[in-house]
Amino acid sequence: RTPQPCAIVVFGATGDLTHRKLVPALYNLAVDKLLPPNFAIIGFARRPWSDDYFREEMLKGVQEFSRRKPDPKIWESFAQNLYYVQSEFDNVEGYQKLKDFLDKLDSEKGLGGNRLYYLSASPSYYETIVERLGDVGLSGRSRRAEQGYTRIIIEKPFGHDLQSARELNDLLHQFFSEDQIFRIDHYLGKETVQNILVFRFANSIFEPIWNRNYIDHVQITAAESIGIEGRGKYYEESGALRDMMQSHLLQLLNLVAMEPPVAFDANSVRDEKVKVLRAIRPIRGNAVADQVVRGQYGPGLIDGKEVPGYRQEPNVDPNSVTETYVAIKLFIDNWRWQGVPIYMRTGKRLKKRVTEIAIQFKQPPLLLFGQQTDGIIEPNVLALRIQPDEGISLTVSVKTPGTRLNIRPVKMEFLYGTGFGIEPPEAYERLLLDAMIGDSTLFTRHDEVEASWAFITDILDAWKQLPPPQFPNYESGSWGPRDADRLLYRDGREWRWL
Ligand code: BG6
Repeated sequence: RTPQPCAIVVFGATGDLTHRKLVPALYNLAVDKLLPPNFAIIGFARRPWSDDYFREEMLKGVQEFSRRKPDPKIWESFAQNLYYVQSEFDNVEGYQKLKDFLDKLDSEKGLGGNRLYYLSASPSYYETIVERLGDVGLSGRSRRAEQGYTRIIIEKPFGHDLQSARELNDLLHQFFSEDQIFRIDHYLGKETVQNILVFRFANSIFEPIWNRNYIDHVQITAAESIGIEGRGKYYEESGALRDMMQSHLLQLLNLVAMEPPVAFDANSVRDEKVKVLRAIRPIRGNAVADQVVRGQYGPGLIDGKEVPGYRQEPNVDPNSVTETYVAIKLFIDNWRWQGVPIYMRTGKRLKKRVTEIAIQFKQPPLLLFGQQTDGIIEPNVLALRIQPDEGISLTVSVKTPGTRLNIRPVKMEFLYGTGFGIEPPEAYERLLLDAMIGDSTLFTRHDEVEASWAFITDILDAWKQLPPPQFPNYESGSWGPRDADRLLYRDGREWRWL
């Protein structure tokens, strides 16, 4: 899986993502000798940085955020391939300068004309950047295949509702063909997320019971203890429904719910994911008040430390009604999942950081031991722990030792950490490598992104009609608003204790 030589151009390279995630990921690929023998990484942004300054900033990023600290020798040879091109995003000359520079790098380094663009600037610039690339003949459609490959990675958010997502797709399709477009959702790059499909389709014992006949319900949780981390401006426009649900949580749901693909290739896998999204029963109008709960954190304690409420965060309106928590109960109207409730929740400033998918199976048909046991028999739960403490556990009931008949749940557990003892690569490592190779299996296709926005936009529309919520409605360090508990109590269920 060694990719061909290429130039990677990062638009918006002075932003957070580049020094926190992208360059550390590329550096780790270099350590693992997974980068092509010849490559160049060009930062393109507005600030007046030099190559040297860019290299220094990126080194700081690797020192602080990389899973491996920089080794001076490896860093030195890696850093020689970092360059910086300064330009406004709408300035055609800047792109002409970029083009000339890329041509020069091609002949000096033998990059074969291969170009990988990374849109990491603010989404308000996406349109301008893509059009300018077209203007100077750098877009996918303006280059011939013999000139080398041309690919573009788009960072989230991909639009802010169905219409804007469609418009962005239309725009991209004017300048790039679909197989040149890589819409990133970094959850798909996580080892444990990729393992969902392996777990389901490389084992024979789970698939027969993976359906409405055996499954009582599914819970998907993505809890974070961090707040909005200085991203008030972005978050005010976004909120938890857009920021996490539309992308990461629906992706997790897709992988849990999809049918076996006919092959493990980009289109076969994504065909099945789209079918799940299309089968989700829309939640519209009054049903939204019933099936969707939103929350916003107030002040509270996280790990014993006092933290401010959302409305006190910088760049947040003191009367903001942006949600930092959302829980949804939904149904998938297809043969496999008919009638099985899926509960999903995500929020900031919750008690702890944990992402988990739990499949809860039905009770045994007859509670044979009912009278003799101290308590009730707990149902079997299969928990796929995405992060942290990555692993898989299955809860089963056993007899406790002794002369009486007592039944207790125990866990059969696999942990990645102790199981393999090696550190998995970061999500961005895998995804950048896949984009260099040209494999889009772990990237979101245009119809997929639109189908997920269709579901989310119905909820956003209904929220606009409903009276404004009474925020804040949960304390930092809690498990979210009371109403989210009621969403399950009503059905005689409860959220898992995590
Ligand atoms: C990002 C969201 O996409 O994912 C952030 O914008 C969120 O708000 C982050 O914190 C969570 O990612 P991870 O990998 O830390 O679970």
